[in-house]
Amino acid sequence: MAKLLSYFYPITKKVHSDFSGTLEITWYNGKKHLDTKNANYSYGSLQRILKFGLEKINLKQVNSVLLLGLGGGSVIETLRNDFSYSKPITAVDIDPVVIDIARNEFNLKEDSNLKIICEDALLFMQSNKIAYDLIIIDLFIDTDVPIAFLAIPFWKQVIAASTSNGAILFNASLQKTKNKALVDVIELLKSHKYHTGVFEKVNNTNTLILSKGL
Ligand SMILES: C[S@@+](CC[C@H](N)C(=O)[O-])C[C@H]1O[C@@H](n2cnc3c(N)ncnc32)[C@H](O)[C@@H]1O
Repeated sequence: MAKLLSYFYPITKKVHSDFSGTLEITWYNGKKHLDTKNANYSYGSLQRILKFGLEKINLKQVNSVLLLGLGGGSVIETLRNDFSYSKPITAVDIDPVVIDIARNEFNLKEDSNLKIICEDALLFMQSNKIAYDLIIIDLFIDTDVPIAFLAIPFWKQVIAASTSNGAILFNASLQKTKNKALVDVIELLKSHKYHTGVFEKVNNTNTLILSKGL
């Protein structure tokens, strides 16, 4: 019923998150989105931005995915439905409220090919011992990428967790004050023999970094 009514007017449910403030689950034109006060977290534009990056990766060569920042899980839907990727995905999110929303509002189901971990991605990466063919980094609090995820120690751990010809897809924020940090991250990736592309204003908003091992 909500889906049908949403063709006439948007229907929004609000949920409080200690990490992201008010989360809004909105039915609009027959589709559900997850938003914060100022940003789209899942489905909608966020999903299109990550799809743009995934189109540039040969997913046939990818046997394992690490997703940092589960949100409502829209990139998992893209991987499964648009690219027929059916191999294992490990998804990490700090926010138990967001994980509940992914499960209960967006019907995300854990199975042998989807493991969901509720943990700070920073701590997860510090103790991680597994290498992945594709690492997707989509970590936001509202419109901001937390500064620790633009710092070199985190990126050294990301590189260590990437297989030799693996890919890294980073949805980066646009704020000017962070540009220097982003330039340093790109330099680090290049110095570790990653072919690194920077795509600006993807979907008219975000900067996307795509690195592939040479
Ligand atoms: C834009 S949403 C992710 C959307 C998701 N990739 C998708 O495809 O639908 C950003 C997510 O980053 C998570 N996040 C922010 N800081 C985090 C941290 N330190 N560790 C783990 N997750 C974090 C937020 O809880 C939020 O769910």
